Amino acid sequence: MNCTCSKNNTEFYKDFELKNFNTLKISSKADLAFFVKDEAQLCSVFRMYKNAKTLGWGSNTLLSSKGVREPVIITRKMSEISQRCEIMEIEAGASAPKVALEAYNNSLSGFEFLIGIPSTLGGAVAMNAGAHEQTISDKLISARVYDIKEDKIITLSKDELNFSYRNSLIKQNTDRYALISAKFQLEKRGKEEIKKRMDENTEFRKRVQPSLVMPNLGSVFKNPTLPDGQKLSAGMLVDKCGLKGFHVGNAGVWERHGNFVINYLNCTSSEYLQVLYKMYTSVKEKFNIELECEIMRIGEFSAQEDEIWRVIKKS
Ligand code: EPU
Repeated sequence: MNCTCSKNNTEFYKDFELKNFNTLKISSKADLAFFVKDEAQLCSVFRMYKNAKTLGWGSNTLLSSKGVREPVIITRKMSEISQRCEIMEIEAGASAPKVALEAYNNSLSGFEFLIGIPSTLGGAVAMNAGAHEQTISDKLISARVYDIKEDKIITLSKDELNFSYRNSLIKQNTDRYALISAKFQLEKRGKEEIKKRMDENTEFRKRVQPSLVMPNLGSVFKNPTLPDGQKLSAGMLVDKCGLKGFHVGNAGVWERHGNFVINYLNCTSSEYLQVLYKMYTSVKEKFNIELECEIMRIGEFSAQEDEIWRVIKKS
């Protein structure tokens, strides 16, 4: 049932099915789901529910099959993009491919990699998303963030956001900070050059990575760096363990790339996590390397799921 919150006019739903709000297409019901349109609504929902969880496209977030007891704030409708000279300011719910096209239309380079990332800007900033030698933090100047605990909007510099490989202050503290918007300094370049780079990215993704027709959450594990500085591919390690095609129920390692786990048909969060556990333990046994899971999770998980999570996230 569609309702509007009397306090802040925000659209919300009770007992809301999130299957179409995560790229893994897990069926998961939220007790309450809010669709915020602007920062006033975002802050207002957090004021009512300090334990609320934000969700963009859900492309890096595992939702529990048992559902989500905390209120979920869906940010996709908070998606304004403004541009002045080489600076773009983008709200958290803007779609990453749309941001790439907007930059291209204005002959601005720096966002070519976003063309194929099925994410909102907010998810991309929290994850410090990257591909093809570009990351979202490269061009970021600052971010407007709602500090849930202090109930105030603050501006954090790039340094304060503490970015590292697939990590940021926001990802580490989702119960404290929610992104409102971020400001980027891009570079003027020829449109042809930008288009060429976007096309190369699209071609790579089509060739090497599963499309969303095969529901997935992107790369599952970070690529590890060995103590001697050598960088390895998590997909290659899982592949060498012979796990491509390994299934638990309806979740399985993609046959063509060892770092993607597919929901083949209505898989559960438990099946998905059991596949991750097998990947983690196999790589540890064969190579003595502890992979680190890069995805996040929201919801009410079973004791077994919690135990797997503790193992694959601990490093
Ligand atoms: N490989 C194998 N077997 C496999 C998979 C890969 O041998 O099953 C080999 C490939 O042949 C290649 C190497 O491993 O030589 C690296 O694989 P790939 O080029 O597919 O890149 P990746 O390391 O798996 C990373 C990012 C992707 C990003 C691409 C392109 C991580 C964990 N993944 O993938 O990011 O799109 O590079 O830049 O950093 C994401 O983080 O969600 C993501 C998709």
